[in-house]
Amino acid sequence: MYIAILGRQPALGIAELERVHGSDSVEFFSPTSATITTDEFSIARLGGTLKAGRVVAELSGDWRQVSQKIITQYADAWSKYDGKITLGISVYGLDVTPREVQRTGIVLKQRLKGSSASLRLIPNAEAELSSATSHHNKLGLSDNKVELLIVRGKGGKVIVAESIGAQNITAYAKRDQERPKRDAFVGMLPPKLAQIMINLSAAPEHSRILDPFCGTGVILQEAALMGYPVYGTDLSEKMVDYSKVNLEWLANSHHISVTSTIQPGDAMTAVWQQPIDAVVAETYLGQPFSAPPSTSKLGEVRRNCDHILSSFLKNVGTQIKSGTPLCLAIPAWKDANGTFTHLSLVDKLGNLDYERVAFKNVSPLDLLYYREDQIVARELLVLIKK
Ligand SMILES: C[S@@+](CC[C@H](N)C(=O)[O-])C[C@H]1O[C@@H](n2cnc3c(N)ncnc32)[C@H](O)[C@@H]1O
Repeated sequence: MYIAILGRQPALGIAELERVHGSDSVEFFSPTSATITTDEFSIARLGGTLKAGRVVAELSGDWRQVSQKIITQYADAWSKYDGKITLGISVYGLDVTPREVQRTGIVLKQRLKGSSASLRLIPNAEAELSSATSHHNKLGLSDNKVELLIVRGKGGKVIVAESIGAQNITAYAKRDQERPKRDAFVGMLPPKLAQIMINLSAAPEHSRILDPFCGTGVILQEAALMGYPVYGTDLSEKMVDYSKVNLEWLANSHHISVTSTIQPGDAMTAVWQQPIDAVVAETYLGQPFSAPPSTSKLGEVRRNCDHILSSFLKNVGTQIKSGTPLCLAIPAWKDANGTFTHLSLVDKLGNLDYERVAFKNVSPLDLLYYREDQIVARELLVLIKK
């Protein structure tokens, strides 16, 4: 069994895990972590998981008891080890200070004095190490760079897991910031969210993914990195060029071969080349707002987005086979009270001949991506063509 420490929006992370590992294997363990019953787990392609670890013990009790068990267990195991071990400890959901967490490492280090193992401890600024710290110290990536993930869950159960790695934030930053063509107006889809969306579509391996609103090509880029042939179209010629340049940069900088077709096209009327095995897109989100718009302005923007996206869904629906998966980011607007206004097409998906995918651990309505200061959220629709 594995445990995943979920990202800032846990609902997205757990939905992604359900689609990758199957709903039956995935459960919330705490509000910000999930257990996955599987023999194989890789964090590399997951956008919604910050860290993951192989579960080595399930305990109960308070921090003192848990800490003692960890000290006894690892003092014994590592006393036979010859060499240096780097250790980080991350504690989630237990009432414990960073000092107390650090203390566990110090006691363990003292216990190992005189043995052939020596311990280097990663300092805890918080009870848990940030994923940046874990990543930069390569914790979980080799036998002698260990991070213990200690998580308190439902009913006071405590899981101890050995990390298998954290999100590669250096690689994300490079893909996001070093690509040659960026456009603040079109918006910047974070690569992590693009990965989540591709995983939510559950597009079969090596199948061809269409993004009919490809913009600067973040989804195409992430899908190509996952090994999918990609097909992007966009109304704007400029965006078509941007996507082409960015994909070329990806292929050269990452030494991968990318199979891609990028063309201009209006998603409401385009006739796409076959095959289209899955559709993943951050669609038209309307204009950006820095403050909640007036009711009449919101009504106007909403009607316009509804028209474009309903027309697109009708158009693409005639060109994809029954059973084709889609994951679309569409706009939803937050008002001053934090309530969201959704597109009206969300309630008419059945009439448009799409079925919304159900999740075991979350409601489809929880699949909203936004930052606190944003008015326009991205609502993720995970659909299957009927
Ligand atoms: C939110 S942006 C997508 C950004 C993209 N995810 C990226 O990586 O840059 C929406 C895109 O939809 C395009 N667009 C707007 N209306 C369209 C339409 N009717 N058909 C096709 N593309 C359209 C815009 O040109 C813009 O590039």
